[in-house]
Amino acid sequence: MDTRRVRDETFVRSVEHRLTVDSTNSLALRMIEDSPELPLLVVADEQTAGRGRGANSWWSPVGCLMFSLVIRRLEQEERLPPYSLHMGLAVRAALAEIAPSTEVAVKWPNDVYLDQRKVSGILVEVPPAGADTLVIGVGINVNSSFQDAPSSVSRVGTSLYDATGSTFDPLNVLCRVLRHVERELDLVQRESGLAERWLPVCYLLNRRVALESGGRTVSGVCAGIDDSGGLLLATDSGVQTISSGVVSFAE
Ligand code: BTN
Repeated sequence: MDTRRVRDETFVRSVEHRLTVDSTNSLALRMIEDSPELPLLVVADEQTAGRGRGANSWWSPVGCLMFSLVIRRLEQEERLPPYSLHMGLAVRAALAEIAPSTEVAVKWPNDVYLDQRKVSGILVEVPPAGADTLVIGVGINVNSSFQDAPSSVSRVGTSLYDATGSTFDPLNVLCRVLRHVERELDLVQRESGLAERWLPVCYLLNRRVALESGGRTVSGVCAGIDDSGGLLLATDSGVQTISSGVVSFAE
């Protein structure tokens, strides 16, 4: 991979490219110790232990674009801003430009859907106490095909290739995504209209969903999100704001 092009064309200042790695997020967390110049991008052609949210793993074959970005956190943060939602908007915008014939949406809290199937997942991790950095991991199914995937993921996943029948230059996709990411990170700092920008591309909007969090399940119809990134659910007892949880469809 032409790592110089990434540095020349995007806001990333150091790049670590590996053919194979356990997980780009795990490598990025290890690399923080060496105080690299930030933003740092860790990108791999293949992962042997790609991680998803909670206990989930991430199917990580060659053809999937997998990277982690290490950024400096805002100093004044008390509560972590909804970075994964901003990243979702950035990835969605890039994919909508790359595959204009498809329908690309964001699924709260950390997925991007293309033609009703998951095409990308985002995993934000905070390094051990004291660090002022953040690791943002992104997986985008670009040239990988779900025809080759284990059945557990093939039912819900898609790739740019599966959806369009074309292959894409991963470096072009990466640079385009990073340009949108830079813009979104700027908007995080300015706390700018997240809810308003989310609404037109919200995958869950007006759908009946069940949200499971801490052993409690809340059901309702999704009414979008608020500016701090909470999911708005219209329930029998009024609109509730849910800050985290696992979504399933109640229909
Ligand atoms: C999810 O869907 O639950 C999040 C998936 C995040 C996958 C990416 S791939 C690059 C980075 N490295 C990892 O181990 N995970 C993230």
